[in-house]
Amino acid sequence: MCGIVGYVGKRNAVPVLMDGLRRLEYRGYDSAGVALVRDGQIALRKTVGKLDGLQESLLAAPLSGTPGIGHTRWATHGAPSEANAHPHLDRSGRIAVVHNGIIENYQALRAELEAKGCTFRSETDTEVVPHLIAAALEAGAADFGEAARRALGRLRGSYALAVLFLDEPDALYAARLGSPLILGHADGEQFIASDVPAILGRAAEVTYLEDGELARLTRTGAAVCTLETGAPVSRAPSRVDLEAEAASKAGFDKYMLKEIHEQPRVLRGLLQKYVVEPETVALPDLGPAEPLLKSVDRITVVSCGTAFHAGMVGKLLIEHFSSVSVEAELASEFRYRAPKLAGVPLVMAISQSGETADTLASVRLAKAEGRPILSICNVAGSTLVRESDGVLFTAAGPEIGVASTKAYTAQLMCLALLAIHTARLRGEMSKEQAGVFLEELQAIPNAVHYVLARQEQVRRVAMKHHSGPSALYLGRYFNYPTALEGALKNKEISYQHAEGYAAGEMKHGPIALVDEYLPVVCVCTKTESEVYEKTLSNVKEVQARNGRIIALATDGDSALADIAEDVLFVPPTLEAFSPIVNAVALQLLAYYAAQARGLDIDKPRNLAKSVTVE
Ligand code: G6P
Repeated sequence: MCGIVGYVGKRNAVPVLMDGLRRLEYRGYDSAGVALVRDGQIALRKTVGKLDGLQESLLAAPLSGTPGIGHTRWATHGAPSEANAHPHLDRSGRIAVVHNGIIENYQALRAELEAKGCTFRSETDTEVVPHLIAAALEAGAADFGEAARRALGRLRGSYALAVLFLDEPDALYAARLGSPLILGHADGEQFIASDVPAILGRAAEVTYLEDGELARLTRTGAAVCTLETGAPVSRAPSRVDLEAEAASKAGFDKYMLKEIHEQPRVLRGLLQKYVVEPETVALPDLGPAEPLLKSVDRITVVSCGTAFHAGMVGKLLIEHFSSVSVEAELASEFRYRAPKLAGVPLVMAISQSGETADTLASVRLAKAEGRPILSICNVAGSTLVRESDGVLFTAAGPEIGVASTKAYTAQLMCLALLAIHTARLRGEMSKEQAGVFLEELQAIPNAVHYVLARQEQVRRVAMKHHSGPSALYLGRYFNYPTALEGALKNKEISYQHAEGYAAGEMKHGPIALVDEYLPVVCVCTKTESEVYEKTLSNVKEVQARNGRIIALATDGDSALADIAEDVLFVPPTLEAFSPIVNAVALQLLAYYAAQARGLDIDKPRNLAKSVTVE
């Protein structure tokens, strides 16, 4: 939700912090700030708006000093304003704090602190933290670490925090409970960050801080202890295995476009990684989920946003290839109802980041009922991966654009492989059949490549239709989730209202919206089942009401070419795998609509990439 960075070392902290914040800006960007030690004081600079504003302010009136902490914010408590931007200070200006998460009991704590004479400068929940630490020091805490532990012991909710003490200017503190935080280690320098991309190229090793831990970082290293007792924790750091290049734009205008174009490579990589023989899938990290897949009758999938659409496709794939019954659930709903897991021996979670609060809460709920968790995730050291019993890595590399693209198609590819693997494990698919399906799957990266090669045509179509207030997206069966995902992409980045609907349901409501102005994106690619004919009938219903049809059709489909105002052609694929290819065409459509509207595609308003709060 928010991004945190910290630096302790010999250098001026400002460029290091700004570079880290830039790479974390996907987490939130309504205000930003830095605090550092300079000339025996904590110097603070905060601005409202995107990071460029802070950069300009630092260019106009340079700051330097070390160590330092920084923050890019996505507002939860208190509107985006300079006063509410982080870092926040205690009364004396000797303690600075940046925070990601939500402190649920901040109102009670604030009232208590105000009663003791504290004056608050912001409306944030975070500001209680520096005041509480100051109070712990005044109350005689033995050292800064103990003061932090005592103060954090009073907080309810979730946090990742970095703390700077003027009176201990050779150290930084970092703590975590429920929000991600990593420590980066280099020779003579240590870093704090919400996510690995922020320290790529700077630190060769990282430590993933666990919930309930506090770290003290100095130039020479980091000492971790538990928040509860202060007992030392020893954990060997891991090597950073992502290349700095993976987090750059590599010549594309936007991260999103770069990530859309990475899809053939990512999909090919997954096939190379998981298809070990022409007819055999091997998923080495499934853990206890693997034997369960042989026997389960039911699986529940929990996920949010785009990952939820992947869950919907996953349900269809697993049910198509095997006898397992699958429910795809929105994690934000699942966690607050009374889910009945009695007949569900396995719960699956899908998440790009592995840090989505609702997905994690659903996983914890299922774990509390003794259910093993199989996660499909893109981030190796994420909380989800660490809390799961088995994992299927999507290996898409860092996804920076807020709207998910390559992570989605990678999730679909993993789900297709999992579905085939499950059917094989259960004896419900022969080796020969698996070989046929895998051969079809092997053709998918090229099909995606072909869609990308036609992006100019997609751009022209987007230019024609982007200006209306609304658009309808229709699809059936495997491509009903595609319609939902296409509509989501469109509204996320182009701000054009878009509704995804099951094509067969159109007559029960949305058809009333159809007139000569409404763009209707119809996913109507050729299929082996009767779904194509049925969808074609729905497209004709739109035509009869003069809707402006944009059809997603299979190469050579002249029937659709006659009906639609515009046709985006994609190569033929098996129906079950068509959502991968079709999603890419709709990603491009949304991208160029947003570009035509002149919007900030990588950082759409009000959104955050990683939603680590409820
Ligand atoms: C946010 C992002 C979406 C993403 C969703 C779930 O809303 O903007 O792109 O699909 O969170 O995130 P996850 O990391 O769990 O896949």
